[in-house]
Amino acid sequence: MHDEPIVQKPASGFWTDAYPDLGRGPISLEDSVSPEFYQKEKEHVFKKSWLYIGRVEQLPQKGSHFTRELAILDTSILVVRGKDDQIRAFHNICPHRGNKLVWRDDPFQEVEGGSSFLYCRFHGWRFDLDGSLIKPSRADLLLDFDGSKCSVPQIQCEVWQGFIFINMNPDNTETVRDFLGEFAEGIEGYPFAGPHQVYKFKAELQCNWKIFMDGFAESYHGPYLHAGSFGALTEVAKMDAPNPYTDALAFDLKGPHRMFSFYGEPSQKTPFSRPIECLTESSPAGPWNKSAKRGPLPKGLNPTRSDKYGFDSFQFFPNFVLIFSSSGFTTHAHWPTGPHSHIVEVDMYFKPPTSHRERISQELTVSFLNDIVLEDASPLEGMQAMLNSGAIKEFYANDEEILVRHLHKVIQDKVTEGEKSKAEQGA
Ligand code: FES
Ligand SMILES: [Fe+2]
Repeated sequence: MHDEPIVQKPASGFWTDAYPDLGRGPISLEDSVSPEFYQKEKEHVFKKSWLYIGRVEQLPQKGSHFTRELAILDTSILVVRGKDDQIRAFHNICPHRGNKLVWRDDPFQEVEGGSSFLYCRFHGWRFDLDGSLIKPSRADLLLDFDGSKCSVPQIQCEVWQGFIFINMNPDNTETVRDFLGEFAEGIEGYPFAGPHQVYKFKAELQCNWKIFMDGFAESYHGPYLHAGSFGALTEVAKMDAPNPYTDALAFDLKGPHRMFSFYGEPSQKTPFSRPIECLTESSPAGPWNKSAKRGPLPKGLNPTRSDKYGFDSFQFFPNFVLIFSSSGFTTHAHWPTGPHSHIVEVDMYFKPPTSHRERISQELTVSFLNDIVLEDASPLEGMQAMLNSGAIKEFYANDEEILVRHLHKVIQDKVTEGEKSKAEQGA
């Protein structure tokens, strides 16, 4: 454990005062309702940023592959581990006449699998795992054909700590590590590598992706929205005063990325532990068994060095959330499918259980977390419908909602910058 805090609250008592550029006033909600804004966000944010699309454990051997159907990128992505063990990403398209290259029964269903080459089942052309053409069928029929120019179109792809990222911008020159910046440096050394016991949760919601991100950027809503799950927090909140359970231990912003650290030594019995938690020795934040606990933490976790520390939540721009808890890490990815809809993917990574008790502890944590995510999701579709009504044009963010303010500012700034440079180039 490290002793010196690396983040401290400004003397004024407001986190927001550390970031004068953020402003303090109301925030435009155009970015969450406008179909025109959505198109610009697609162009200037999603098609220009490094995006997290999966873990290396999904590609266990040479020839392993998986596909991603990502509407916000207007394409299907094929990710392949090559014979040289390098992980590459491609547009999932055959360069002969454009058939979708890898799919099974439904061309819009994501797949995972493996083979020693890529095979297009329309006319039987074969491609190597690096995308180059191995052999067209009926080579005797080809006209003015240069096989060296006929390969599966590649997309920039890099791996950081086992997380696979792509970047759709062919002109990008920044590495994913440089893009992720100081927060990434502070996390490196965490035991991310598999094998893992992974629990997955995926749903499409009729709301803008940022509205769901916002709910995971503050714990201020805890005693109200999660009153059913966290009765103890609600009791404290009735005092309508600073709440040690929900006020963040730290907020930190670095470029387009943000994080917060919050309360809860959950991996032990507390006065609020419910009978089922005592029985299974598990809480929403993780099993209590000592062998599942974290080892020495990388320097960027628990930035206030608090003994009350429970979680750190990093929101990497634009749509990737990485949460650390007592017994593992969780990823959230938010994929827009339209201006008022998105798919959320929640993947929870634990150590593989070594006993039935450990497995049951994990299952209890996962079922708690699924309930909590559903509670987080519960207001969102109604909220989106009301935002779409146009009855309000702005929303408010208090000091505990500084990360909400930051997300919307960064997105709005990126779109403004992108439009400006497009206008300057006369595009
Ligand atoms: S479209 Fe793929 S082989 Fe013809
Ligand atoms: Fe929540």
